[in-house]
Amino acid sequence: MIQNIADLIDSGLSANDFETAGSAATIKSALNSLSGHEDSKNKLDSLIAKYNIPENLFKGGCERFTKSEILKYTPQNWREFVRARHSVRRFKDSIISREIINEIINDAKYYPSACNRQPCRVYYSTNPEITAKILRNCDGFVSGAGGVHNCFIVTCDRSLLNQAELNDQELLNSGIFLGYLVMSIHAHGLGSCLFQFLQVNRRQELIKREFGIKSSEIIAAFVGFGELEDEIITACAQRRPNIINVIE
Ligand SMILES: Cc1cc2nc3c(=O)[nH]c(=O)nc-3n(C[C@H](O)[C@H](O)[C@H](O)COP(=O)(O)O)c2cc1C
Repeated sequence: MIQNIADLIDSGLSANDFETAGSAATIKSALNSLSGHEDSKNKLDSLIAKYNIPENLFKGGCERFTKSEILKYTPQNWREFVRARHSVRRFKDSIISREIINEIINDAKYYPSACNRQPCRVYYSTNPEITAKILRNCDGFVSGAGGVHNCFIVTCDRSLLNQAELNDQELLNSGIFLGYLVMSIHAHGLGSCLFQFLQVNRRQELIKREFGIKSSEIIAAFVGFGELEDEIITACAQRRPNIINVIE
């Protein structure tokens, strides 16, 4: 693992990067919790010195929280809040600012991911012509596509998952991220709707090239979003009454 960090930097990654400085911090903390392993400890310290890897940019190891710190921000109206989100497929004709969009994505970044690999990426444009081009590539039904003026492409970078984790993990992690993303959009007072992207889509490589998406990424879904109109008409999405099974 220590050699991997050196290889990454030698191949052009910055010593300040999450993959390099973040990994060094994690390995350092793991080694510090062990007795012995002097060789590895020395090797890591030489690597940090050689490449000037910052030691305080990312945290490694454990963090402590009190119960009250965790419970302090529990939303009191969570039950109503989740029930008030609906898939909205037609929005006001406005472009959401990059500042708000980045805030939405940065909040969604706190999704859980396998081994904290955080493999999801988001692409968007605030140029209406490019957004219209993006929307033309949705496999999912975009009811009244003319009513959607902002759209995310959500991807999962397979190169961040190991071989055993591929297939299931890429869509599992994307699904969790998408759940956080739509709730983050809702929390910002905007509406959203997920649009299906079929993994058998033969145009996937062309779409990735067109929008500058890395070849190691798969497209998980598109998310249309925007400012809510004063009156929203959406499909009745009844919830199944019985999904709970108690094992006795
Ligand atoms: C993976 C996924 C794909 C979806 N694809 C589409 C789609 O292509 N077109 C669409 O109009 N809605 C799509 N939806 C939205 C669902 O239809 C909607 O979430 C569901 O009917 C429940 O309604 P609600 O979101 O308003 O609670 C998708 C949702 C998910 C989770």
